[in-house]
Amino acid sequence: MNTKVWKVDKCVDNLESNPHVVDAAHFLRENEVVAMPTETVYGLAGNAKNDEAVRKIFEAKGRPSDNPLIIHIAERSQLEQMVAEVPEKADRLIEAFWPGPLTIVFRMKEGVLSKLATAGLSTVAVRMPDHPVALALLRACRLPIAAPSANSSGKPSPTTAAHVVEDLNGKIAGVLDGGPTGVGVESTVVDCTEDVPIILRPGGITREQLEAVIGEVRIDPALINESEQPKSPGMKYRHYAPNAPLYLVSGTREFLQRLVEEKQKEGLRVGVLTTEEFAGEYEADEVLICGQRSELDTVASALYDVLRRFNQLNVDIIFSEMFPNVGVGHAIMNRLEKAAGNKVIVEK
Ligand code: TXA
Ligand code: MG
Repeated sequence: MNTKVWKVDKCVDNLESNPHVVDAAHFLRENEVVAMPTETVYGLAGNAKNDEAVRKIFEAKGRPSDNPLIIHIAERSQLEQMVAEVPEKADRLIEAFWPGPLTIVFRMKEGVLSKLATAGLSTVAVRMPDHPVALALLRACRLPIAAPSANSSGKPSPTTAAHVVEDLNGKIAGVLDGGPTGVGVESTVVDCTEDVPIILRPGGITREQLEAVIGEVRIDPALINESEQPKSPGMKYRHYAPNAPLYLVSGTREFLQRLVEEKQKEGLRVGVLTTEEFAGEYEADEVLICGQRSELDTVASALYDVLRRFNQLNVDIIFSEMFPNVGVGHAIMNRLEKAAGNKVIVEK
């Protein structure tokens, strides 16, 4: 299959009638799959009502079939068609954060969506993305769209169309290239089927932001304690991993630099993941800057691109600084821990 790359300027008016958006929408109505930019990461879109389309999404990504997809909508009225009820707290979250990087898990209305999309669960995860190209595509195709991140399963999520092509070229009909995404980490997934909503995946909207709107929000214990079984099927898989082993380093920068030198003595090419503030303090084979520590949003935005760039640089091992577990730092640390397979080196 020849994967088309359709460049679309996200700032122009009337995107719904942009010829590339119309082409992509046509493919979706034919049950083909196309990648689209969202405000978090690029998504691989397919008709959520159709088994064949959903099967193509799982196949292109090499995704395990027990991991359900998020359903993307452009209008609030589409939500009522697929969920059994909208609890009052969910309603307030929607008012506050949609369109935006918040996915809400609801009890599902049976018989509307492909069972493959929801992996046979009785719940469904829904979000309204805050990206003009995604919204235009959703409106143009007039379908609920299942869309996981548009990477090969296990790789870092794509934040540019080039990342999508790197992983999925030849496997999908096309990519709408709307430039780099903004937030950089995926949406927060919050389960609203219980009285006290639970964060299943930390993301673009922070716990603090959610609690300001609906009061107490719990965190899935599996996010804190590795031995717990996660409530969100996707969270049990290894993810975001660069090719070289990645270690998180808890300690001083001098300690991290000593680790680099030890490995270089063994003949390894060593990479360091740091931020603008401290880049000058390391001497390694590759020192990659992931945003500014003083603005954690910039770290989130750069993270997946940096993880992917290490692959091109052929390093043998990567040491990464750690980040505070607050605000969007919670999502950053969650992704880094997964990318590292939870390997942390603590300075004694
Ligand atoms: O920002 C995002 O959310 C991106 C963009 C493309 O929208 N999408 C994304 O999708 O990250 P994906 O498939 O990579 O991650 C979906 C997560 C998985 O961890 C999955 O297990 C969880 O959402 N999920 C989906 N349906 C669920 C459900 N009914 N209950 C619990 N977790 C669910
Ligand atoms: Mg993903």
